[in-house]
Amino acid sequence: MRADIERWEAKYRKADPRQALQVDPLLQAHSDRLRGDGTALDLAAGACHAAVYLAKLGLMATALDCSATALSIGQRLAQREGVAITTHQADLDETPLPTGPWAVLCCLRFLSRDLMTQMPGALEPGGLLVLKTFNVHHLVKAPAFNPAYVLQPGELESTFVALETFDLSDGHDPAEAQSWIVARRPGGCSESAGGN
Ligand SMILES: C[S@@+](CC[C@H](N)C(=O)[O-])C[C@H]1O[C@@H](n2cnc3c(N)ncnc32)[C@H](O)[C@@H]1O
Repeated sequence: MRADIERWEAKYRKADPRQALQVDPLLQAHSDRLRGDGTALDLAAGACHAAVYLAKLGLMATALDCSATALSIGQRLAQREGVAITTHQADLDETPLPTGPWAVLCCLRFLSRDLMTQMPGALEPGGLLVLKTFNVHHLVKAPAFNPAYVLQPGELESTFVALETFDLSDGHDPAEAQSWIVARRPGGCSESAGGN
């Protein structure tokens, strides 16, 4: 197994296997837009907190991560929360973005510029992208963090120019160590993900 994937595995083997659901505030803030009965993909899902939350909003959620241990923690979290999720172990450095089209694509605290370019095309018309990850200001507090994995100011806006943006924080404020975007692929007719 590759060294970085082995490191993630080791981290999740030490994690609490009965961790409580923690919902990212960005997902909570946009819950009304996200609610629906379509398909959702949580990329680099870790212990699947976002996938479980999306399932609780009615979506058919798939969680993808390289760590089998993280996904099994996520399956147990889903059971305790009374929802079903699909888990898929894959290395995103070797695998293209799973073909949707997806009603929701979620990617939290993971950066692959190659995948970012594929995301708009993997959304169904009207589908929603929720992406949030570390930006260059994170390096002030975490100088050992790999600078290849932080977003530059303005990078989300320029990458997702084809999408209709609802919420954007793009690294222009040094107080925000993460950038985020919530945006919709034009087309489609529903106000929420998957047509509910
Ligand atoms: C910082 S964690 C974020 C987890 C989750 N999205 C969250 O916000 O809680 C980064 C995740 O990316 C996963 N990851 C790292 N490299 C990966 C790769 N090449 N393919 C798939 N997943 C990967 C790790 O296993 C880890 O779960």
